[in-house]
Amino acid sequence: MSSLSDLAGIGRDPRRGGYSRHGFDRAELELRGWFAAEAARRGLDLETDRNGNLWAWWGSPGPNAVVTGSHLDSVPGGGAFDGPLGVVSALEAVDSLRAKGFAPGKPLAVVVFAEEEGGRFGVPCLGSRLLTGTIKPDAALRLTDPAGVSLADAVTAAGLDPARFGRDDEALARIGCFVELHVEQGKGLTVPVGLATSILAHGRWRFTFTGQGNHAGTTMIDDRRDPMLPAAQLVRAARLAAVGDARATVGRLVPNPGGTNVIASTVDVWLDARAPQGVRELVEEISEEAFRAADEEACQLIVREESYGDTVVFDAGLRDELAGVLGGVPALPTGAGHDAGILAARVPTAMLFVRNPTGISHAPEEHAEPDDCAAGVVALATVLEHLAR
Ligand code: GLV
Ligand code: MN
Ligand code: MN
Repeated sequence: MSSLSDLAGIGRDPRRGGYSRHGFDRAELELRGWFAAEAARRGLDLETDRNGNLWAWWGSPGPNAVVTGSHLDSVPGGGAFDGPLGVVSALEAVDSLRAKGFAPGKPLAVVVFAEEEGGRFGVPCLGSRLLTGTIKPDAALRLTDPAGVSLADAVTAAGLDPARFGRDDEALARIGCFVELHVEQGKGLTVPVGLATSILAHGRWRFTFTGQGNHAGTTMIDDRRDPMLPAAQLVRAARLAAVGDARATVGRLVPNPGGTNVIASTVDVWLDARAPQGVRELVEEISEEAFRAADEEACQLIVREESYGDTVVFDAGLRDELAGVLGGVPALPTGAGHDAGILAARVPTAMLFVRNPTGISHAPEEHAEPDDCAAGVVALATVLEHLAR
């Protein structure tokens, strides 16, 4: 058996609380080592694909494989469940199928996608985007982390070959269907297990405001060109523009040089925007206000789109089939992004959600009750048995 508590000591973040585990950093590499050992213990064949995603195979790889799994990286200061629950539950589901003597009629794989949160290199679902060709390898390999390390250098240091990165049709062709189990990240699920219907369209934008760095004590207010002012207006504009089902968030703002007694010379602000439709129009509206505020403070503003993904609607046929197998569990939409959302454009894909009693996620308080996690494993094993029969 595997359990989330096996991972409890890896990547703890004493400063932020919770876990900070980012693609190809020390904690994530340690988790990859844990996964490799768990695969070996079960006699599953471990493979690292061209883009650094891990696959543990029960049976020989593809075609028509039934694939399950999730990711092991986290947001900065994240909870214990987002990602690892799907990986641990997949391994436990394999154990329970074996314990009952199930012999799969199709290959079955547990996958770990790299850098799902984009917590290090900025683009979410990087491993699945690379696999499916949703991001070009040269654009991905040029991405840098906050310390200036490129993805190319990080994967090289992890023993991977960046020259092999990019769309991997061979790996994709092996997938018959993909089912990702995940902790629910809102308050929408009131029974232990549910299925996903859709994911909101989602993008990330970086706003760079440039003013004039200067002395906090000697620079008269009228003489200032302080980029923190339009940055603050952007935060407020995002809140005001997000109406109805739309969401707009500034969770990261970096002033340079970042001194208490220093007027910043630049401020970078990252905007995360999501909605059922019209995300780019929403960002346009917020940007207009940011440009207006920058102008008022005689600052410059550059806006860059760092990632974007359209609304995802999961395969209704597969969802109905799985709902039938599970005895009619509820189906609900989500505002959270997932590798399943990237895969859904290429292969029949479904998601199982495990109830989150408070709806808190991307924070140390993220939680799912042990009984609900156990129900998730039972549901996943039931689904895998049905799909791989
Ligand atoms: C990932 O969990 C996201 O929704 O950003
Ligand atoms: Mn997440
Ligand atoms: Mn996740």
